[in-house]
Amino acid sequence: MENRLYELTRKRRSVRRYGQRRVDDAVVQEMIKVALTAPTSFGHKPVEFIIVRNQETIRKIGACKRMGGSQINGADVVIVVTVKTADRGQAEFWIEDGAIASAYLLLAAEQYGLGACWVHIRNRMGRQKTSDEEIRALLGVPDGYSVLNLVAIGEKGESPRPYSDADLHMENVHYEKF
Ligand SMILES: Cc1cc2nc3c(=O)[nH]c(=O)nc-3n(C[C@H](O)[C@H](O)[C@H](O)COP(=O)(O)O)c2cc1C
Repeated sequence: MENRLYELTRKRRSVRRYGQRRVDDAVVQEMIKVALTAPTSFGHKPVEFIIVRNQETIRKIGACKRMGGSQINGADVVIVVTVKTADRGQAEFWIEDGAIASAYLLLAAEQYGLGACWVHIRNRMGRQKTSDEEIRALLGVPDGYSVLNLVAIGEKGESPRPYSDADLHMENVHYEKF
């Protein structure tokens, strides 16, 4: 049976090395449109994205994550996924809301043949404070928002093997009872 979405999701792999080719601004905009269609709890739409292309700023963002933050160096675009946590109604599901939007971004990148990787920020440490606090200070994110993760994007500089049916953990699927 045709399964165009699976054809996309199986090709999406984390890409952590990037080539030199510039990602078109128009492509970034299309990817953002996809992320803005992601479902959010109660339809609150609490997820806000900061698109960073300045390489110096990208290096500074990477430095806000003590372990592994430098992996974003070389990415042409880094999308900082922030979620409004100020209101109780929004705070309850902020991780889910941010995660779904991020997953959409990862798939959108693959659709355009770009490499992308989720780089985690929540509960990670920077030099002095948490990575979240340091990134918010660096990028002027107002109080009441948290940074969940980054999505680093660029021309693929490595080509991880697409998933095939044989890779799927079918044993994780249960019918009627666990
Ligand atoms: C919640 C979450 C956090 C992740 N954090 C990182 C990270 O900080 N750095 C990184 O290189 N990859 C990170 N990843 C990517 C995973 O390592 C990757 O998805 C996993 O190894 C499976 O490989 P695949 O993406 O190629 O299918 C994260 C993924 C998720 C969903």
